[in-house]
Amino acid sequence: MHLFENLKKVFTKEPYSAREAQEIAHIYSWGPVLFQVCRLMIKYGILQMLHDNRDGLTQEEISSRTGLSAYAVKCLMEASLTAHIVLIETDNDKYRLGKVGWFLLNDAMIRADIDFNHDVNYEGWFVLDKALEEGRPAGLKHFGDWTTLYEALSSLPEEVQKSWFGFDHYYSDHSFDEALALISANKTRNLLDVGGNTGRFAMRCVEANPEIEVTICDLPQQIKLMRQAMAGKAGSDRVHAVEMNLLDEKTAFPTDRRYDAIWMSQFLDCFSEQQIVSILRRASAILDDDNRFYIMETLWDRQDYVPAAMSLTMTSLYFTAIANGNSKMYNTDDLSRLIHEAGLKIETIHDRIGNGGHSIIVVKR
Ligand SMILES: C[S@@+](CC[C@H](N)C(=O)[O-])C[C@H]1O[C@@H](n2cnc3c(N)ncnc32)[C@H](O)[C@@H]1O
Repeated sequence: MHLFENLKKVFTKEPYSAREAQEIAHIYSWGPVLFQVCRLMIKYGILQMLHDNRDGLTQEEISSRTGLSAYAVKCLMEASLTAHIVLIETDNDKYRLGKVGWFLLNDAMIRADIDFNHDVNYEGWFVLDKALEEGRPAGLKHFGDWTTLYEALSSLPEEVQKSWFGFDHYYSDHSFDEALALISANKTRNLLDVGGNTGRFAMRCVEANPEIEVTICDLPQQIKLMRQAMAGKAGSDRVHAVEMNLLDEKTAFPTDRRYDAIWMSQFLDCFSEQQIVSILRRASAILDDDNRFYIMETLWDRQDYVPAAMSLTMTSLYFTAIANGNSKMYNTDDLSRLIHEAGLKIETIHDRIGNGGHSIIVVKR
């Protein structure tokens, strides 16, 4: 298996002493409620209060500032103390913010993950076993009768949409400038953005490059959201849209103009291996031999840090239980094999794009 050096060091030999391993296993066994404690310490503003009051706050002060009962605050603070989220001064019983609490409060990635995990995934993961055994997103059911999350997206409750888009945008937005530089270096004029969603990358392209035209293809529901998001914005006349469901094997890629590049950002991870090969084959039919595909993905084996690799392998289980039941965050070996199976060649892989974790795989026929 391919692994970046840092990951190889920790994934090929046991990193923990027995005592550390036992402690971690205990933490995992309380994972669901520990997660809720973290979320609620943010939601009730307690971590922010402790951040703003460096000398600390007593339980009574926290209770009067939050309006929560003494009982509720006591339970939350004691749980947070034993989870190292806060610290206590034993001489005056004041709580202070711990380092874990600081990161829960201030790390934008952690905040996007918490919202996504609570609003989109939490209930669905209860039936992860069913999803794994049956190969369908069994956890999507509590949102309604949908085959995949993508059809449901624009009909989901507002806070669920907000958390889904917050997560999606957080992870791709940071990478757009470097991606755009790569695409522009190849003098792209007509770009096809496959799974272009609400058009954030397309807007970035037309703002930065007065000559580029971008066509987004996506499901009709997302194209509608994209048109709303783009209405009246300068450059939006150079953003076009084609509604299509690429899961339908008979759906061909658009040929309304000669595209000189195809951009797929966080798109192929929405499909099973077999579907990826089919999509790439159909896409390659509309490009010439000297045109390129730019495939941006967060490949879990190409991460420098364990938490990043772990977030990605856990995200796979969102695809399993909630999104579609059959896709995942791929690794280099698997995605390369599928690209080759579709009759394509990998020209280069650019790593550490954006705030770290993305790779852009440049592919030719
Ligand atoms: C994870 S989002 C990525 C969005 C955007 N490219 C980005 O990087 O932020 C995947 C996109 O693929 C689209 N998609 C999923 N299934 C699709 C299908 N069967 N046909 C066309 N588009 C699809 C979704 O609607 C969504 O916009």
